[in-house]
Amino acid sequence: MNPKRRPLIAGNWKMHGDAAWAAALAREVAHRTARARHCDVAVMPAFPLIPAVARVLEGSPVALGAQDLSPEEEGAFTGDVSARMLQSVGCTHVVVGHSERREHHLEGDDLVRRKIARALGAGLIPILCVGERLAEREAGRTLERVETQVRIAMQGLDEAGASRVVLAYEPVWAIGTGRTATPAQAEEVHEFLRGVVRGLFGYEVAEGMRILYGGSVKPDNIRDLMACPDVDGALVGGASLDAESFSRIVNFAE
Ligand code: 13P
Repeated sequence: MNPKRRPLIAGNWKMHGDAAWAAALAREVAHRTARARHCDVAVMPAFPLIPAVARVLEGSPVALGAQDLSPEEEGAFTGDVSARMLQSVGCTHVVVGHSERREHHLEGDDLVRRKIARALGAGLIPILCVGERLAEREAGRTLERVETQVRIAMQGLDEAGASRVVLAYEPVWAIGTGRTATPAQAEEVHEFLRGVVRGLFGYEVAEGMRILYGGSVKPDNIRDLMACPDVDGALVGGASLDAESFSRIVNFAE
C-alpha cells in the first residue's frame, strides 16, 4: 500500500447464490463497510443478480461490478452481455481475463485486449486479471507470463485509457486453494508489473495504477499483503461470500 494510491477491495462472487441471497449479502456488506474511508469497495455478482444488488446499493459507496463482458458492441451474440448493458444497470467495474474465463472458456490475451477496450469505451473500470499457473511458476516463468498478459491486454491504449485500468495479480495456484502467495511473492510480481506499466505508459500512469492481489485472501492474511508497497488492494473470491469475513478484509486497518 502506498498513500498515493487509494486501495480497492473487491468481492468476486463468481457463480454463487441467487437474487435474494445476493441482495441480503450486499445489504450486509454495505452496512458493515459503511465506515471504511481508507479504500474503495466493490462487489461483483453474476449477471442476473446485478439489478437486485444495484437496488440495495443505491446511495451506498459500495461499487457494483460484473465478472465479464462481451468484446462486441451489440448484435447477434447469443448469451453475451455488452458493456452498455452493464453500465445501464449500474455497474462501474468489470473483471476481465479472470483465470477461470481463460481456463473454462479458452479466453486468450487477444480477446482480453478487446474486452478491455470495450469496457473503457463504455466508461467502465476494467479489472484486468493476470497470473501464472503452478507449472509456470515452477519453471521460473512467472514474470515472463504476467508481462505477456499485460502487454497484449493493454496494447493500443493511450495513457488516459491505461490510467483507468486496475490490474489484479491472481496466481492460478492460489485461487480457491487456501494457498496464498506470500507477501514477498506478491510484492515481487506487483513491483515487476508496475515496472512493465512504466515501460509502456510512463511513470505517472505506473505510479497511479492500482494493482490488486487475488488468491485465497482472508481476514488473517490481508494485513500482511497490504503492508507490501505495491499491493493496492485485493480481489477476494471465497471470503467475499460471507459479509463478516469480507468486511473484516475491507476493515483490515482497524
Ligand atoms: P479465492 O479468494 O476464492 O481464492 O478467489 C480469488 C479469485 O479468483 C478472485 O477473483
